[in-house]
Amino acid sequence: MTANLSVSIGGLMLKNPVMPASGCFGYGEEYAPFYDLTRLGAIVVKGTTAEPCLGNAPIRIAETAAGMLNAIGLQNPGVVAAREKIQRLSSYNTPVIVNIAGHSTEQYLRVIEVLEDEPAAAAYEVNISCPNVKAGGMAFGTDPMVVTRLITAIRAVTKKTVIVKLSPNVTDIVPVALAAESAGADALSLINTLVGMAIDAETRRPVLANLTGGLSGPAIKPVALRLVWQVSDAVSIPVIGMGGISCAEDALEFILAGATAVGIGAANFSNPTVCPDVIDGIAAYLQRHNFASVQEIIGLAKNRGTDNTGGECACETK
Ligand SMILES: Cc1cc2nc3c(=O)[nH]c(=O)nc-3n(C[C@H](O)[C@H](O)[C@H](O)COP(=O)(O)O)c2cc1C
Repeated sequence: MTANLSVSIGGLMLKNPVMPASGCFGYGEEYAPFYDLTRLGAIVVKGTTAEPCLGNAPIRIAETAAGMLNAIGLQNPGVVAAREKIQRLSSYNTPVIVNIAGHSTEQYLRVIEVLEDEPAAAAYEVNISCPNVKAGGMAFGTDPMVVTRLITAIRAVTKKTVIVKLSPNVTDIVPVALAAESAGADALSLINTLVGMAIDAETRRPVLANLTGGLSGPAIKPVALRLVWQVSDAVSIPVIGMGGISCAEDALEFILAGATAVGIGAANFSNPTVCPDVIDGIAAYLQRHNFASVQEIIGLAKNRGTDNTGGECACETK
């Protein structure tokens, strides 16, 4: 008997818990030659803004040990042109989640205004890592009060599923997660990239024109896993876990840590079939371990019984 892979995220019924992460899958068309996109649990498109955006000046990408830095800067065609690309994705029988971005509440709301009556857009994933120009450029996602205001405003204008994508670049992610949940988020996704930088010793200059960029890939997996564990403990809405997933075992770790579904980002660049590979690997794991459904293993690593020694130590190094 094959295991049931379906999960639900807010109002979305996903046939399996695997989706690409925003910004690593364009609007889907680049990956369509590699496999039938209908296989995906959901398609998550590039961060979409109210107006077209050229992004940052090059160089915008740097390879790092076990990962990459990117400072793309939300390059996208703007919501009106993006809507046409999203409509084309409706030929695949899988929900399309639109990652939305802005530098003010009004800019986020403008994206929703254009997409709200678009049936091809099933849900919004709200990227709160963007700088808030009205708050001196500090990212929305660093202040729970700002998150409450933004998500309350978004909740008031949409009936679609709202997923809030959390930034790891905070001292404590839990108050931000709770603020998003209380303001009406249907689900949370995490993590976005960790801010980092690279310097070229020969030129003695920073590699990225933007100086800093977002670190992603296998290097960030342990951090992401810890944050997914913490957040899924704190909230009662579903969590979509991501950060460094490149194989089924990685995805399973996130599900066992409490994620209902997983997103795969940078790994798509080195292995374009990573998403279907992970779906097959999860199915094989469930069969091998006699689980009837993926839902049975969500958060299972937390059931540690009484043999847990040392788990309450608050020290960062042990
Ligand atoms: C090139 C690139 C572009 C990205 N663009 C976006 C974006 O537009 N919106 C967003 O919320 N996250 C964006 N991300 C973050 C990813 O969706 C994901 O959260 C992060 O890379 C961690 O997952 P990974 O380690 O599997 O890549 C981007 C990441 C990369 C590498």
